[in-house]
Amino acid sequence: MRNVLVAGALLLSAAACSKSSDPAPAAATPNTLYVRLGSVNGVSKVVDSFLANVIAETQTSNTSLKRTFNPLLTSNNAQRVTLLRDNLIDQIGQATGGPLVYKGLTMTAAHKGMAITTQEFGVFGVAFTKALTDNGVKDPEKTELLTIITSLQSQVVGQ
Ligand code: HEM
Repeated sequence: MRNVLVAGALLLSAAACSKSSDPAPAAATPNTLYVRLGSVNGVSKVVDSFLANVIAETQTSNTSLKRTFNPLLTSNNAQRVTLLRDNLIDQIGQATGGPLVYKGLTMTAAHKGMAITTQEFGVFGVAFTKALTDNGVKDPEKTELLTIITSLQSQVVGQ
């Protein structure tokens, strides 16, 4: 009886070994940048911090962003700020691989007539980078997202 059991065990282990001819298991899919940013909650927190940073910057004595953002920040334009917030969340959500879909204007159309300068773009970038840092976004994700933002510079500046 014992021999039968041993033979059976040997057969089973041989069958297990034959598994080595099976295809290698698929490598784990790395999480998208969207997921690594914390999905919709993480992206929303970054956008909220960013808009707070922009507003704070417009209140400094040597502000660079007041010229362009003032129309949004005066005369009860909360709805417009909310729309910009939602658009930014969707835009970042889409660009980082999430299921969110951006439904706003193209970057050239959105910034047409604003004549945004490279200097203003830089200050906008500082406000965005601070939002990433303040929300604990780690360096690799920070670099990836800033690369996406920077790649849009030519569509934003000088329109
Ligand atoms: C790559 C960088 C930027 C991105 C991704 C971005 C994204 C956006 C988006 C998604 C909108 C809304 C579009 C829509 O209404 O359909 C918008 C509008 C706007 N952006 Fe930008 N933007 C960038 C750079 C800048 C810079 C550098 C400034 C100013 C210094 C700026 C100022 C504005 C203003 C004032 C609006 C208009 C909002 C309104 O009129 O309601 N943006 N931007």
